[in-house]
Amino acid sequence: MLKNLVVAADERAEALDRLILRGADRQLTGVDAGDIVVLEDSSGALTLHALATVLAETDTARRVLVRSRSYQQARAMRTLADRLLEGLGQDAVARLVVAGLDTEALDLETALAECSLKPTLALGRLPKTLSALDDWSRALARHSALATTEFSLCLGGNTKHMTRTMNTVLEQSFGEVWAGRGQGKFRALLAKAPRQSVLAHTAEETQIAAGTLLGLGGVFSGGREDRGGAYLADIACDLLPQLPRSAGGEAVRVLDLGCGNGSVSLRLLHRAQELSLPLVLTATDLDADAVRSATQTLAPYKAGEQTVTVTWDDASAGSASGSFDLLLLNPPFHEGTRLDATMVRPLLDAATRLLALDGQLLLVHNSHLRYRAQLEDRFEEVEQLGRNGTFTVLSACNPL
Ligand SMILES: C[S@@+](CC[C@H](N)C(=O)[O-])C[C@H]1O[C@@H](n2cnc3c(N)ncnc32)[C@H](O)[C@@H]1O
Repeated sequence: MLKNLVVAADERAEALDRLILRGADRQLTGVDAGDIVVLEDSSGALTLHALATVLAETDTARRVLVRSRSYQQARAMRTLADRLLEGLGQDAVARLVVAGLDTEALDLETALAECSLKPTLALGRLPKTLSALDDWSRALARHSALATTEFSLCLGGNTKHMTRTMNTVLEQSFGEVWAGRGQGKFRALLAKAPRQSVLAHTAEETQIAAGTLLGLGGVFSGGREDRGGAYLADIACDLLPQLPRSAGGEAVRVLDLGCGNGSVSLRLLHRAQELSLPLVLTATDLDADAVRSATQTLAPYKAGEQTVTVTWDDASAGSASGSFDLLLLNPPFHEGTRLDATMVRPLLDAATRLLALDGQLLLVHNSHLRYRAQLEDRFEEVEQLGRNGTFTVLSACNPL
């Protein structure tokens, strides 16, 4: 059975995974083996390799904590591991902890504490933003300092996306930081000796008229307002007094689909408060860092008359069909640096399912990207509500 795990890990391993695994293995020589943390494992190879390592020892109960920002990736990892571990019993299944699915916490530090893990190694792919790297390294150093175990970190990436500043960020949390030998286009950054009294990662903050925007880790746009999102919020706020209410109810049911740091929801909640209009608002995102950020941004509204829920989900799959009067969408259109206007499709498909009978979708896009045809394929009524120098806001009603 363990052989299945090793074979599956090898089959999935990409060149970058092999480099990370070699770097990580060297770190473990002579160290008491503890739990293992796996970060942003897009291929699954690092997690399966880590699981095979901990399960190979029958006299310990070492565990593997996987932390993926993407809900899809976290779910896929849980499903794959459950399938491969099926014949090994519940104990083996429980050796994998997926942050956000098997823990309440979405952030690394709280997830580690929640499961009382004592990791000696964290390995994974370098994040795209320095803020996400700061988030992980502070979480790992703070937890290791408390757990008093020896701890090493090995993160690999493409050298063309690596900068010296990454070392500087790691040095704030670890006493020893160095770069491994590169291979092809990849290289690993390694760190050990967690510093004492490292401060927790703090949110980037921006004050806007509606309140305070907070951005944690690698959330889209950090703690700042995205210009497209701001234009969408302007138009949605103007529309708010004219919206039909839910059948028999007073409150307008709003879905902020792909909420990022919560800026659009914040603006809408603020305007609704001014109008004394109750909202039942759901802000949802695929990205765990977005959910953490929006939860903090929208916290002041949790206690008031408005009903606010923030969820980690894929295209709001967990919401009931026909349950929203207004759906707000500022869709993703970049995969890394590549423009990709098809990324909106699953979100538009979800919108047709989620809107109530008289419901309305508002979508903002960069004016040079052509989204109107994609809306017309799915909705009977599509109209332009606004256009400025850069952005267009379209409204769509009556799914086909
Ligand atoms: C362009 S950003 C907009 C963020 C925010 N609404 C704003 O205006 O600042 C798009 C957001 O959609 C999220 N997203 C992408 N695919 C998603 C999916 N399938 N389900 C939920 N959210 C998704 C991304 O994580 C990102 O936060």
